[in-house]
Amino acid sequence: MPDLKGTSITWLGHATVLITTPKGTTILIDPFIEQNPKYPKDYRLPEKIDLLLITHGHMDHIADAVPVAKKHGPIAIGMVELIDWLQSKGVKEGKGIGMNFGGSHQHADVTLTLTEARHSSSITDGDKTLYGGNPAGFVIAIDNGPVLYHAGDTTVFSDMQLIRDLYHPELAMLPIGDHYTMGPKAAALAAKFLGVKTVLPIHFGTFPPLVGTPAQLEKELAGSGVTVIHTDPGKTLS
Ligand code: NI
Ligand code: MN
Repeated sequence: MPDLKGTSITWLGHATVLITTPKGTTILIDPFIEQNPKYPKDYRLPEKIDLLLITHGHMDHIADAVPVAKKHGPIAIGMVELIDWLQSKGVKEGKGIGMNFGGSHQHADVTLTLTEARHSSSITDGDKTLYGGNPAGFVIAIDNGPVLYHAGDTTVFSDMQLIRDLYHPELAMLPIGDHYTMGPKAAALAAKFLGVKTVLPIHFGTFPPLVGTPAQLEKELAGSGVTVIHTDPGKTLS
């Protein structure tokens, strides 16, 4: 494990991740809880969630966004069209911050930046399919802590090198499952473009088509000096 300098990270299966900073700011990313086959049984979210980050509109990323927003009252942050939709579903005025690529928002000891993702983003709302804006990722820079990157759903793109040059992430949460995102081979190249020392693999094994594995990623990264974290949903890394 890398030195997270007092920050803790809990992967909750699929792309759902909870981060707690040294000052106690809690950040939940892409809440997929009720229907997530890999969500740890009996795991309870902390009562206080400060920030809710949503990468894009697909159900496996926003399914529980509205209930979490209503129960825990976090500030929801993401692409402007997606946040507008959340507000139409009851996320209160002042509790949603819609941004776009390259935009940053500071909250307590955390600076968040919305980054590109190469994917799609639509919202299934009843019998309608709505435009969700562009899909995104997040750079999460923690004061006196690490710079983290959650890629959302994406394939590799060479502009990940711009994320490296601008933000210097140390740890990347990368999808490796294949089919709807990149698989292990492309994720290994992504890790190199990003210049990270550590990868926390996400978005694999949840459903049968998501066949990529951390072991395959590790093989692709052999000799690169990049560490692949092997963990189980619900286990806290610190
Ligand atoms: Ni998606
Ligand atoms: Mn997905």
